[in-house]
Amino acid sequence: MCGIFGYAGTKKDAAEIVFSGIRSLEYRGYDSWGVGVVPASKSKFLISPLAVKKQVGKIGQASIADLPQGSIAFGHTRWATHGGATVENAHPHLDCTKRFAVIHNGIIENYEMVRDKILRKKHTFRSQTDTEVVVHLIEELAQTQSLRQATRQAFNLIEGLNAFIVLDSQTKQLIAVRNGSPLVVGFGRGENFLASDASALLPYTKRVHFMEDNEMVIITDSQTEFFETKSGKKLKPLIQTLNWSFAQADLGKFPHFMLKEIYEQPKILSNISQVSTVEIKKIAGLIETAFGTYLVGCGTAAYACLAGSYLFSKVSGFHLNWAIGSEFGYQLDFLTPKSLVLALSQSGETMDILESVKKAKAKGAKIVSLVNVFGSSLYRLSDYSLLMGAGSEKAVASTKDFTAKLAHLTLLAYALKGKIKDGQKVVAQAAKVAAGICQRPDLSRLKKLAKLLKHKDHMYIIGRGLSYPAALETALKIKEISYIHAEGLPAGELKHGPLALVEKGTPCLAFLPGDETYGANLAGSMEMKARGGYLIGISYKPHEIFDYYIPVADCREATIIPNVVVAQLLAYYLAIERGLDPDKPRHLAKSVTVK
Ligand code: F6R
Repeated sequence: MCGIFGYAGTKKDAAEIVFSGIRSLEYRGYDSWGVGVVPASKSKFLISPLAVKKQVGKIGQASIADLPQGSIAFGHTRWATHGGATVENAHPHLDCTKRFAVIHNGIIENYEMVRDKILRKKHTFRSQTDTEVVVHLIEELAQTQSLRQATRQAFNLIEGLNAFIVLDSQTKQLIAVRNGSPLVVGFGRGENFLASDASALLPYTKRVHFMEDNEMVIITDSQTEFFETKSGKKLKPLIQTLNWSFAQADLGKFPHFMLKEIYEQPKILSNISQVSTVEIKKIAGLIETAFGTYLVGCGTAAYACLAGSYLFSKVSGFHLNWAIGSEFGYQLDFLTPKSLVLALSQSGETMDILESVKKAKAKGAKIVSLVNVFGSSLYRLSDYSLLMGAGSEKAVASTKDFTAKLAHLTLLAYALKGKIKDGQKVVAQAAKVAAGICQRPDLSRLKKLAKLLKHKDHMYIIGRGLSYPAALETALKIKEISYIHAEGLPAGELKHGPLALVEKGTPCLAFLPGDETYGANLAGSMEMKARGGYLIGISYKPHEIFDYYIPVADCREATIIPNVVVAQLLAYYLAIERGLDPDKPRHLAKSVTVK
């Protein structure tokens, strides 16, 4: 969702630095953008103490060369919530005097009350956003107190989960506050930074502080000061040095991040099969002694949770519950201090997960997270975090983090059985099978299939057991990046309703690994075929009923991993065939930081 980048330093091209910062945050998903800068010197062309450029649409080839030089600036990519994607609604928003500008990520739940009761009579609103309320509120409050107090008071008055930055053109400082939405402070030499995502800071600094809820920071070129928002008390930042490499964010030889990330999977999986098992054994021990373990995630991560519930049952004979992040909050009345929540998230910033995990924590439950981003909110909120080691994911659609999670869950399930080495073997095997799928001739078969299916309106994908979450994930990937309607179903459910939708030529994908589900899955495939469905079999062996065959070698419980790699590649090539950008699907964002 919204990307934020701020700079205060001695360089004169602050606007350019900020522009490249928000460009690096493009992957989060947005529909408009804006940059604000305090001009270094007064120019007769400048009618305001602040120069602002805002545009609707992607940054693309846009330039900000028309913005003046200056040493303090900030920028924002907006994903519309309150008010459509228009230039007026894009951030930054200015107060009536044009002294202050504000950028914001989150939702101000009581914005109508603040606007109508406190501001309406004295201030002119130019947008339909909730954000604009903040800048006028600060303008109002700063008339009688310091900007620091005014910002703090404004922050305490608004409700909801938010992060915003105020740029003051007079005192040349940035003031940022956070509750819920992520913000990271970067410390440089003679310059300081703010960003919604630490990866955006990598070209400038690796020394960061991840802001906690209810923290405020004042940033100038030479100083950073931290305060508690409720009491105003001074705080000490927890400065950490990131060991991430900047190169991870490059496309390299690939045309899209999604393809690059799909291709990274064999290596990541192979690494996971070899790394130390100390952490896995520790978490397995927690599951073993907990009175109920709940796997929780959203979207793709929710399907990893579902897969986990099958894996634990099948491999180690353990029952684990699973829930979708946004629903978990409504079914946690039974949690006790003996419960364990395994929260799964790539970004570690998904609001639906954070909210329900906080509620679970308040009930005393222990929180363990499987998360890909070091220092993320979930990482810090958890009692124990296991990093996925998948490297930075830039494409909106999650790929490598999903298979990394499946690999870790496989190891956990085997560790519970006391046979972690067997788990490592199946993950290593899955890595090899996945590598084969990424090469010709398997790849050519997938590209050809994408050409055959590109004009279809609907697809149905079936599986049983572990292939059921694979079917759900396949449908999600196809929907989100190719915009073809796709439904993932447990094969047994076909006859209870969905079969009515199958007609002549309807693409029906069936996962048929050589496990206990094979026979029953084949029966479901036949039911579809008998109604005219075009049957695409994804299996370890061909079958006469398949109209199209994608071979995937079996690797026991880990077969779900290469099956999903097939799905990712098919979705990717469908998007390409349909002329779409697979990295930036419409209406979607990478980091879903609103409820
Ligand atoms: C789909 C996708 C999303 C995410 C979901 C959770 O391809 O990427 O469904 O899986 O938004 O995100 P994280 O894992 O960051 O919590």
